[in-house]
Amino acid sequence: MLSIKNLHMKYGNNEVLKGIDLNVKSGEKIIIMGTSGSGKSTLLRCINHLEKASDGEMIFDGRHISLNNWKKDDIQYIRLNTSMVFQNYNLFAHKTALENITEGLIHVRNKSKKEAIEIAEAYLEKTGMLEWKNSYPSMMSGGQQQRVGIARALALKPKIIMFDEPTSALDPELVGDVLNVMRQVAEDGITMLVVTHEVAFAKDVADRIAILDKGVILEIGSPDEILKNPKNEKTQRFFSMLNY
Ligand SMILES: Nc1ncnc2c1ncn2[C@@H]1O[C@H](COP(=O)(O)OP(=O)(O)OP(=O)(O)O)[C@@H](O)[C@H]1O
Ligand SMILES: [Mg+2]
Repeated sequence: MLSIKNLHMKYGNNEVLKGIDLNVKSGEKIIIMGTSGSGKSTLLRCINHLEKASDGEMIFDGRHISLNNWKKDDIQYIRLNTSMVFQNYNLFAHKTALENITEGLIHVRNKSKKEAIEIAEAYLEKTGMLEWKNSYPSMMSGGQQQRVGIARALALKPKIIMFDEPTSALDPELVGDVLNVMRQVAEDGITMLVVTHEVAFAKDVADRIAILDKGVILEIGSPDEILKNPKNEKTQRFFSMLNY
């Protein structure tokens, strides 16, 4: 459902993605790992047009997109069909949990207010946050804010959902709840691209794990291949750094 070819990304003279090729099947869960600065966030950001790549092609759901030359309706299509969960939740501080979700449904998806509220409540229920629907982000823990962030991303019914280190800003005791919600999302069959260093989660949920290093995919394969039997020495070093 997603095929990326020869993705390059430069910030000035600094080439941070050096020819990424990645094919993702419908329903597939791909976990992306790699050291800080290897280009994980940039990769996700180039897919959903938060950044414009310097070169590369993408076929998303049958639609051919030049990653360095986005057309207006490509951007619109990607907005409508992908959503992203961020490390720092990115909730609107002056909106309640419910309003954080209805906002996009009303203004991007053209839902009526009534319908938007119904959808928002259903997803808050799903992430265990319904009783917090009238709370503002400052009244919630990081884990709770992130569960609202996930509800918001799911409510848009994307064809693919991307997570960029969704638990790395959380206190350790809050990580489990968020990962459990993500496991549930995975079971629903949606296509997922997840940047995370939670190895146990990756082992259970990933169809494939991709290791990014200095802007290239060093290695990609099943959790068994990558975790038990990494071929590349740098992958081995990376996991020993994670104490795995
Ligand atoms: N807006 C920007 N302007 C210039 N350089 C950037 C920008 N964003 C990222 N970079 C550089 O691009 C490289 C890749 O960054 P990226 O954020 O994609 O890495 P990452 O793998 O997500 O790292 P982390 O694990 O720390 O989140 C880094 O060298 C970074 O300094
Ligand atoms: Mg990052």
